[in-house]
Amino acid sequence: MHCLVTGAAGFIGSHLCERLLADGHAVTGVDCFTDYYPRTIKERNLAGFRDHQHFRFRELDLSEGIPAEVVKGAEWVFHLAAMAGLTRSWLDFDSYNRHNLTATHRLLEALKVVPTLKKLIYASTSSVYGKYASGDESLPTRPSSPYGITKLAAEQLCRVYGDEFGLPCVVLRYFSVYGPRQRPEMGYHLFINAILKGKPITLTGDGLQVRGNTYIADCVEATVRATQATPGETFNLGGGELVTVLEVFKKLEKIIGKPALIEKHPPRKGDQLATGADVSKLLRHLGWKPTTSLAEGLAKQVEWQKSLL
Ligand SMILES: NC(=O)c1ccc[n+]([C@@H]2O[C@H](COP(=O)([O-])OP(=O)(O)OC[C@H]3O[C@@H](n4cnc5c(N)ncnc54)[C@H](O)[C@@H]3O)[C@@H](O)[C@H]2O)c1
Repeated sequence: MHCLVTGAAGFIGSHLCERLLADGHAVTGVDCFTDYYPRTIKERNLAGFRDHQHFRFRELDLSEGIPAEVVKGAEWVFHLAAMAGLTRSWLDFDSYNRHNLTATHRLLEALKVVPTLKKLIYASTSSVYGKYASGDESLPTRPSSPYGITKLAAEQLCRVYGDEFGLPCVVLRYFSVYGPRQRPEMGYHLFINAILKGKPITLTGDGLQVRGNTYIADCVEATVRATQATPGETFNLGGGELVTVLEVFKKLEKIIGKPALIEKHPPRKGDQLATGADVSKLLRHLGWKPTTSLAEGLAKQVEWQKSLL
């Protein structure tokens, strides 16, 4: 297949590109290196496959329009480009609006006239559900941050282009993804670095927030399988194992062999109190279920972060 991956230099996008190339597909990767985290990290994400003979990279901001040659011949499109993370979305609404909503609009407009298109996978988020994101796809969507609102709006835009122009869109709602290359501001990344360096961990809230995080390889597997889904479908994509943040600290202490020094802070605005995907729809439709245990996945992320010290 001829694949287009937006956000190819990001955490999940770079793993997805590698997987698609390993499966023998041709991949066009697009990224504009937003300043959400340093470009050097994204260049490192790309390094392992940038020179692959079936990969071509376009540095391009989707929100500024997309040249026809970039989408020409695309069969599977994976739209992962976005401003991620909810905290900054309170401070920088315009960037979230531009990179999450306008960029999606420009991509849909460009794809409208691509006859080869077989599937468009849109990477959405559990943040569309808001504070309580535990359950299946019938949970009410009540985002509690500007980030969640822009991601939900982009989902709706995909639906409208599906209804009105026949674009074959499938929505995946990712529940916090972790593993090697995890974004530097994400919880597990910060926790692991702090424990490795003997520094205090900033804990927002009481630590009893429940999380059902997804290991990167499981996330990528489901994302690839979603190319076989019926257009118009939406799926929760989560890791299955539910743990509190305090339990995660215990697991990390065991893996790393050092204590977690915890510094308590008030909860973040809009933070999710419980996220736990019911992924039975993915199992029913696409035969997917997560296969990596939290202990196994955390150990792999610890190894990766150690290698960067
Ligand atoms: N990581 C998670 O736990 C998680 C959870 C839920 C949803 N998601 C979604 O998955 C996707 C990937 O997340 P990630 O963690 O890999 O984030 P990331 O920030 O590592 O990757 C996103 C990439 O998109 C690029 N980008 C942003 N706007 C762009 C634009 N206008 N044009 C071109 N490139 C642009 C960025 O430069 C970045 O490299 C996002 O859509 C995010 O909302 C991620």
